[in-house]
Amino acid sequence: MAGLTIENLTKIYGGGAVVDNVSFTVAPGEFCILLGPSGCGKSTILRLIAGLEEQEGGRIMIGDRDIGALNPRDRDVAMVFQSYALYPHLNVYENIAFPLRVRKTPVGEVDRRVRETAALLEIAELLPRKPREISGGQRQRVAIGRAIVRSPQLFLFDEPLSNLDAKLRAAMRVELAGLHRRLRATTLYVTHDQVEAMTLGQKIVLMDRGVVQQIGAPRELYERPVNLFTASFLGTPPINLFTGRLMNSGDAMTVRFPDFQIDLGREARLAPYGGDELTVGIRPEAIRVGAGPLRGILEHMEHTGADTILYLRLRAARLIARATADFSSPLGATLEFDFDAQYLHFFNKGQRV
Ligand SMILES: Nc1ncnc2c1ncn2[C@@H]1O[C@H](COP(=O)(O)OP(=O)(O)OP(=O)(O)O)[C@@H](O)[C@H]1O
Ligand SMILES: [Mg+2]
Repeated sequence: MAGLTIENLTKIYGGGAVVDNVSFTVAPGEFCILLGPSGCGKSTILRLIAGLEEQEGGRIMIGDRDIGALNPRDRDVAMVFQSYALYPHLNVYENIAFPLRVRKTPVGEVDRRVRETAALLEIAELLPRKPREISGGQRQRVAIGRAIVRSPQLFLFDEPLSNLDAKLRAAMRVELAGLHRRLRATTLYVTHDQVEAMTLGQKIVLMDRGVVQQIGAPRELYERPVNLFTASFLGTPPINLFTGRLMNSGDAMTVRFPDFQIDLGREARLAPYGGDELTVGIRPEAIRVGAGPLRGILEHMEHTGADTILYLRLRAARLIARATADFSSPLGATLEFDFDAQYLHFFNKGQRV
């Protein structure tokens, strides 16, 4: 099994770089997620790797082989598209067999591999049917079957679950994770869905406007975002961000906002920023509602089943907090709260400090 190395990859459309000097690696057997908002260049990167587009600069390596100049067919890469792209006139069997037929694989081996793949994906009984005679989730499995049938070096997935309803998407997520545990294939999986990214990925490459923002394990990105983009992209409800001034009085520090302040004690890492503007990030779960020096009015409440989301208003500022499922309080009540200081994130000029 080989890994994937992307070095300084650049793609330009109409004068602008939509993939801008992108570098990352996917270790052999790793499941890596390419995550970012719509239009940030995710599909373009997959298409460059698959050879469907030509790069302006940089290198694409599988193992120690530079594949940038090879024909798509010779790259040993399989891609699963959002649209499935099944052949409507071929039955499921022939759709899965297609990549083998193109490579003139002997008939007996085609049959063996198609049946093995269908068994693995639990679609054996669908083999004689046409794509229009099966459901969306089943079509997705056939598309995955067509990708895995010839055991390529690298799998590329472009938002394969986005056409499925929420329940099926969750089920397919679990199946994909299970499939990867069995096959241990090197995988690059594109999504703009952060839940998919957090639950499926061993590593996330987070992008914005063609530029890599942060690379790391899902928890690392959530718990130690390197900049404001990562901090605000990950998390539902989103992180609360307040910009204020850091007051440093020697043995104690305070961040002063228009409506309130946070007393910090001594934070060595913040010492160089005395007098500067800092943005403080507070995750909804880092807020302890019940008692504390701060007060907010409960404007709105959502019971999700597993927990309760509270929308609080301090004078002008608004804050989203997460409370337990059994939380109850009338709307309009004034609630006392506090922050768990160890979970606060500080940013100066957009970068973590
Ligand atoms: N063939 C093309 N010609 C010109 N511009 C293109 C072309 N293909 C993509 N783009 C532009 O490149 C940028 C990146 O597109 P890309 O499809 O890679 O985004 P994406 O991250 O996959 O978005 P989404 O999540 O919506 O699928 C977009 O601004 C898009 O408009
Ligand atoms: Mg896309």
